[in-house]
Amino acid sequence: MTESTAPAGDPGVLRDRARTALLTARDRTSLLTDCVQEGELTAQVSPLMSPLVWDLAHIGNQEEQWLLRAVAGRAAMRPEIDPLYDAFEHPRAERPALPLLPPAEARAYAAEVRGRALDVLDSAPLHGSPLTDAGFAFGMIAQHEQQHDETMLITHQLRTGPVVLTAPDPEPAARFTGPAEVLVPGGPFTMGTSAEPWALDNERPAHHRLVPAFFLDTTPVTNGAYQVFIEDGGYEDPRWWEPRGWDHVRSRGISAPLFWRREGGTWLRRRFGATEPVVAEEPVVHVGWFEADAYARWAGRRLPTETEWEKAARFDPATGRSTRYPWGDADPGPEHANLGQRHLRPAPAGSYPAGESPLGIRQLIGDVWEWTSSGFLPYPGFTAFPYREYSEVFFGGDYKVLRGGSFAVDAVACRGTFRNWDHPIRRQIFSGFRTARDVKPADEAFQEAI
Ligand code: AVJ
Ligand code: FE
Repeated sequence: MTESTAPAGDPGVLRDRARTALLTARDRTSLLTDCVQEGELTAQVSPLMSPLVWDLAHIGNQEEQWLLRAVAGRAAMRPEIDPLYDAFEHPRAERPALPLLPPAEARAYAAEVRGRALDVLDSAPLHGSPLTDAGFAFGMIAQHEQQHDETMLITHQLRTGPVVLTAPDPEPAARFTGPAEVLVPGGPFTMGTSAEPWALDNERPAHHRLVPAFFLDTTPVTNGAYQVFIEDGGYEDPRWWEPRGWDHVRSRGISAPLFWRREGGTWLRRRFGATEPVVAEEPVVHVGWFEADAYARWAGRRLPTETEWEKAARFDPATGRSTRYPWGDADPGPEHANLGQRHLRPAPAGSYPAGESPLGIRQLIGDVWEWTSSGFLPYPGFTAFPYREYSEVFFGGDYKVLRGGSFAVDAVACRGTFRNWDHPIRRQIFSGFRTARDVKPADEAFQEAI
């Protein structure tokens, strides 16, 4: 396979990388759970979400299971709490009624686990077993915590109380003057990875795929463009909707992205407790798959497949190789992408020139998760690792794949191969999209002529 190899690491470097990833995640978790009163940690903000105090102890419990029990062979610290924090035993809506650890105990438990896990990290051999090779289990647990940090940020977005979280806005960007779409050339490319040490099971293994040429938007669809769809009666016209999506928006009275409200002639949105005008230049966020799919059809286009998305994000036409990120193989820095909750909103479409792909496509990584047309399925040669409940039990379910990460996800849990998935009706997540289209014979003639 022709994919870039991730930076090699001697054990010292890997240990430092794992320690930093764990500490970075805990700083974020603390910020997200220390910013509200105790009572709000145990409250049910939405039936779609767990109380924040559940996420907190669940983060500690997963870490205990994998780093203390599986890696270091320790006995369970509090075996009686395991079922409470098993995501499969209790759906989110039921969790507030469980006898959960109260906030102070949840914090102390997570901190105790962390102290011991860092000791394990200091002495564990980072080779010789698939779980610890290249520090995988430590990377997996840092990613797990960061995924729950994004989940907790969603809970904060659903809160209607006063503002408790703020962050500076992204730097104003020069106006994007590139084309609206570019041609991604047809041909084989390497999808997935066998080289990225902390890639999760569903991203593996690397394999070849043949992708016909297609056109892809150079930026995510903006609020301004989405408003034209609304004003054109997009939500009232069944021609644009999958039948299930049509039934859903009709029965729920959905006529705009979640958190939007129209007042007089202007669209307002609630964002982390504050109401503000919708900014036309920003990528649209909080739309479900059915809305993304309807918009694309209305625009005479379609959503990209997951394969197309990954080819656009990784294929380097100059070398034929798949890189780790659109900009190459360097780890994401603040110049490349809007990640890690540094900003609590997407940056205007066309931002981050340094994160551009070789074909000139921007913001594939960061800003908003991008819906693809694809269901969530295993790659050829998939093996569940280290547990079936991370990916395997979701394959073939009522899920669509999202790619690229949002402003709310940390770089450790976001890369060109990273796969997210959710139900097509879900809109509380930081989800947007970009559109694609097939190459028509007229376009081919045009391509040959130039
Ligand atoms: C990959 C985001 C769909 O939040 O359900 C967290 C991540 N898995 N704990 C989810 C996850 C186990 C997962 N998603
Ligand atoms: Fe989890």
